[in-house]
Amino acid sequence: MHVSSPSKWFRHVGPLLLLTSLASHAATDGESIMQKGGANPAAMPCISCHAPDGKGMAAAGFPRLAGLPAAYIAKQLHDFKAGLRLNPVMQPIASALTAEEVDAVAAAYAARPRVNVAPQPVGTPAEGSGAWIALRGAWDRSIPECTLCHGPSGIGMDPSFPPLAGQGAVYLENQLKAWAGAPAVKAKGKTKAVAAVAPTRRNDPNGLMQHIAASLTATEMKAVAEYFGSLGDSSEPFDDTQHRLR
Ligand code: HEC
Ligand code: HEC
Repeated sequence: MHVSSPSKWFRHVGPLLLLTSLASHAATDGESIMQKGGANPAAMPCISCHAPDGKGMAAAGFPRLAGLPAAYIAKQLHDFKAGLRLNPVMQPIASALTAEEVDAVAAAYAARPRVNVAPQPVGTPAEGSGAWIALRGAWDRSIPECTLCHGPSGIGMDPSFPPLAGQGAVYLENQLKAWAGAPAVKAKGKTKAVAAVAPTRRNDPNGLMQHIAASLTATEMKAVAEYFGSLGDSSEPFDDTQHRLR
């Protein structure tokens, strides 16, 4: 292309500049990141794992993002980037998002419908069951009830406490294991020694969740994950004042 004058130059390049500025605008549109991914191709479309409605894929351990607090989502993406939360799938994706894209996609997911918990039977849960841990904790081991921080029925509390209701049981249990890690087991008789597993999630403020996860037994982790995994999603309109389980 032969460029002879500034005005002619603009006639050729102007529309191109306009197009690139539109494209970069589109990349910071949260909805577009969900559907098509970020500007860097390594930031794959979120919908392929977190589902088109953002409710995740419970059986695969892909969490729900729809209706989670924006600040919580953005924090997780920064924590994956910083290596405070280790995950082979999400770390490269989060690292490929710009800070602007993180904010945009977090805001777009937060604007989706929150989990809507179906009414629960009122009654005393069986001692030691998942519901018992969730609603009463195990104070003899300094384990508070989960609903103390995660809101009534585990619906979450903006901005820092994510919902547990509406998340898949597999994902919830994985997170508890990630915080707890596992101590080494010495060889005894015919059993082989098992090496310690370091926690892979180390991003909770003041080690709140690390302490709780490490204090739960494997059976309790599974039971409480299954309890919250079995709550929600009801089709009733969301009622922010609900305190059905308290
Ligand atoms: C290839 C599958 C895949 C894709 C694509 C994907 N994710 Fe994920 N995502 C996962 C998995 C698996 C986890 C759970 C990781 C774990 O167990 O710690 C996760 C976890 C997350 C979490 C943590 C949720 C929580 O409750 O703490 C956020 C936030 C997240 N992803 C955001 C995104 C965004 C935004 C995109 C699109 C830019 C995206 N993901 C694309 C698989 C994926
Ligand atoms: C003292 C407050 C507190 C209590 C009590 C508490 N949590 Fe949490 N929990 C948190 C905070 C804060 C986070 C978010 C940490 C972060 O920023 O990643 C969290 C996150 C989680 C997550 C990760 C959710 C996600 O989307 O990745 C799970 C799972 C969880 N908590 C389970 C439980 C269970 C089960 C109990 C009860 C046995 C419980 N929590 C009690 C404060 C609490």
